[in-house]
Amino acid sequence: MDPSKVVIPPMKDLTPDNITPNTIIINSQGPDKRMQYVLERLVTHLHDFTRETRLTTEEWMTGIQFLTQVGQICSDTRQEFILLSDTLGLSTLVENINHPKPEGATEGTVLGPFHTEDAHEFAHGDSICTDGKGEMCLVRCTLKDTSGKPIAGASVDIWETDETGHYDTQYKDRQYPDCRGILKTDENGDFWFKAVKPVPYPIPHDGPVGKMLAKLHRHPYRPSHMHFMIIAEGYDTLVTSLYIRGDPYETSDAVFGVKSSLVIDVKKVGDEAVAKKYDVKTDDWEINYDFVLVSAEEAVALKNKNAAEALKALGSTAQIFNGLPIADLD
Ligand SMILES: [Fe+2]
Repeated sequence: MDPSKVVIPPMKDLTPDNITPNTIIINSQGPDKRMQYVLERLVTHLHDFTRETRLTTEEWMTGIQFLTQVGQICSDTRQEFILLSDTLGLSTLVENINHPKPEGATEGTVLGPFHTEDAHEFAHGDSICTDGKGEMCLVRCTLKDTSGKPIAGASVDIWETDETGHYDTQYKDRQYPDCRGILKTDENGDFWFKAVKPVPYPIPHDGPVGKMLAKLHRHPYRPSHMHFMIIAEGYDTLVTSLYIRGDPYETSDAVFGVKSSLVIDVKKVGDEAVAKKYDVKTDDWEINYDFVLVSAEEAVALKNKNAAEALKALGSTAQIFNGLPIADLD
């Protein structure tokens, strides 16, 4: 719909048939063309949803109260809105659209609500977890670009739960970051550290999102995983996780984050030379993974291509600027 072609009736006597174009017109006066476009589509879908479902006043109020509760339980260390976004599939959708990957690049997945900005930097071989937590797991990884060139000096931010399935931020007496840390890749693009062997855990389900899942007969569990955020100059930031093969929740992740290419085997270190080199025992666990980043230019080109294809499929004539549809500038 082109708002400029809508004849604006006086802003009264609005009906289910004319409330949408009028709301769009009144929202279209600012200079931000991207915001204008997003609001136009949001109002259109929200109104269509209401007309289609014949939303009752009681349901509308239930929704308002639910969102209020989602906001009220949020704190500096609890992000219920991200949980809501995750469990509705929105987070995975946003991640996939914004960080497209060509063949051979490491796929991204949900950030989740437990990343923090206060992780300490560690040296290669350090443990990111307090001594004595869980089963020791050596993690050895490489980082390359899509042409196979090692990426040195990249920041690798890692976070996971402890052996009980809780992130440090879920403990009221948290004194310092634990089971999280940042490493820099070496000159060969390698990084290695010690951590706790990941375990499955339920997302916090004592709040409104947990109640929603229970009503929908959905379990709140995530399969065993370890989070990674990899930032390197000139490359699209990678937010991803590695999932342990064979986990009981591998195919029913409560937040839809699992991708086959990110499911890995955890094995025993075994080799005595490796154990000696990395100061672990042969019967400690080990994870290996080769991460591949996409260049920033390649990511933008893919976003432009995907956006054009998606809009064409939807029959939309919106302009695309920097990979994003915007309102008509004319
Ligand atoms: Fe997680």
